[in-house]
Amino acid sequence: MGMDSYRYKNAALCCDGLSIAAIADAVGTPFYLYSATMIERNFKAFENALYDVPHLTCFAVKANSNLAVLKLLHDLGSGFDIVSQGELYRLEKIGADAKRILFSGVGKRDEEIVAGLQTGILQFNAESKDELQRINDLASKYSIRADVGVRINPGVDPKTHAYIATGSENHKFGIPMDAAQRIYAEPRKYPHLTFTGISCHIGSQITELRPFQEAVESLQRLVVKLGARGKCLKFLDIGGGLGIRYDKEQPPSIEEYARSLAEQTRSLNLTLLLEPGRSIVGKAGVLVTKVILTKQGARKQFVVVDAGMNDLIRPTLYGAFHAIDPVRKPAGACRPMDVVGPICETGDFFAQNRLLPPVKAGDLLAIRDVGAYGFSQASNYNSRRRAAEVMVQNGSFRVIRERESFEDLVKLERL
Ligand code: LLP
Repeated sequence: MGMDSYRYKNAALCCDGLSIAAIADAVGTPFYLYSATMIERNFKAFENALYDVPHLTCFAVKANSNLAVLKLLHDLGSGFDIVSQGELYRLEKIGADAKRILFSGVGKRDEEIVAGLQTGILQFNAESKDELQRINDLASKYSIRADVGVRINPGVDPKTHAYIATGSENHKFGIPMDAAQRIYAEPRKYPHLTFTGISCHIGSQITELRPFQEAVESLQRLVVKLGARGKCLKFLDIGGGLGIRYDKEQPPSIEEYARSLAEQTRSLNLTLLLEPGRSIVGKAGVLVTKVILTKQGARKQFVVVDAGMNDLIRPTLYGAFHAIDPVRKPAGACRPMDVVGPICETGDFFAQNRLLPPVKAGDLLAIRDVGAYGFSQASNYNSRRRAAEVMVQNGSFRVIRERESFEDLVKLERL
C-alpha cells in the first residue's frame, strides 16, 4: 500500500513530518488525523494501474464522508459511490460532477431516487426487481430516463468477516444471476430505464485476488449470455472490497488488484467502474487519544483512554485489530494490556492483551488504520461529543471538522 506517512522522528510519532503531539496540543483529544498525501498516493495507485483501460474510480463515500476528504479526492479526479441522499448532499457541497456519481444500496427511498434522477447521476445500481420498477415509475413521473446497472449477487465467498461479506446467496444484496438474466432480457418492462451496466460488490476487507476474479468471471459469463443486449452495456462495476493490512494480512497491492481486473475485463470493451473505500483512506487515518489513567485489575492491566467505542466501533463490532502506537516512544519492556474507553460497556475496548511499552496518564496513543469506517461510524453514545477531524496537507495541519459542542448534542431536542 505504498509508503507510510506515520513514522517516528527521534522518538516522536509524526504524520508527514508533523509532530502529532503538537497537533494534539492545538486541538485537544480525541481526534482523527488524516494524511492527505497517503490518500492521494492510494488514489493515484488506482489511476496509474488503470491508465490504459477506460475506467472510473468511484470512492465509496461511506468509508470516510468528511467534506475535505471528498474534496481532495474530487480534485484528484475521483468519482463517488453513494448509498443515501445525505451522501449525495455532501457531494453537492463539494461541487462533485453528477456524471461521476453511482448510487448503490439495497433500500433506496423514493425521495432518494428522485434526488438522484434530478441530479442526473451516472448510474443507479439496482438490487431488486421492485427497485427497478420504482426507479422506472419515478423516472416516468419526472420525464427523465434513468441509467441503471443491475447489481448481481455472484454467489462467491470473499473469505472475510461475516458482517461484511455480501456476495453469497444468503445475503440480502444483489440479484441472483438467473433472475438478472431475465431482467436484462425484458427491458420493455422498464421503458424509462436504460440498462447501462452490470455490477457487483462481494464484500469488504478482502485480502485475496481470487474472490474478485471469480466475481468478474460470473459477470463475464452473464454478459456473454446476454448476447446483443450485453453489447449495449457500457459499464462493468466491480464494487469495492480490497482489504488493507491491519495486522498480519497480506492483501494484494492496489496495483496488483487493479491490473488483475484490467487484464481480466479488457476483452469486454466495457468501462470499468470501481468503488474502493477502505483501500484509499484506511491506512491514511489514525485516532489520537490521551490516556486518562491506568489501572491494575485482578488479572489484567487496563489503560483507560479518552476515546471510546462511540468514536471507533470496529474493534468491538468486528473483532477488528488496530495497531496502537505511543505518540512518544517510551523506553521499557512491553507488557500485555487492555486499551479501553470510558464507556460503561465491556465491549468498549480498542485492544485486548496487547503488548505495549510502559504507558502512564497523560500519554498520547495513536490507534492506527482508522481512516475508513472510523469517524463515519461514530456516534454520540453516552452523550459524548464526536471527535474533531484534522488533515495534514502540504506541510501543515487544519481542523476539517470541529469537535462537537455540548450544545450540538442537544440542539435537535425539544422539551
Ligand atoms: N460499494 C458498495 C456497494 C459497498 O457496500 C461498499 C462497502 C463499498 C463499495 C466499499 O467497500 P470497501 O472498498 O471499503 O471495502 N463498516 C465495515 C465495512 C462495511 C463495508 C460496507 N460496504 C468495516 O468497518 O469494516
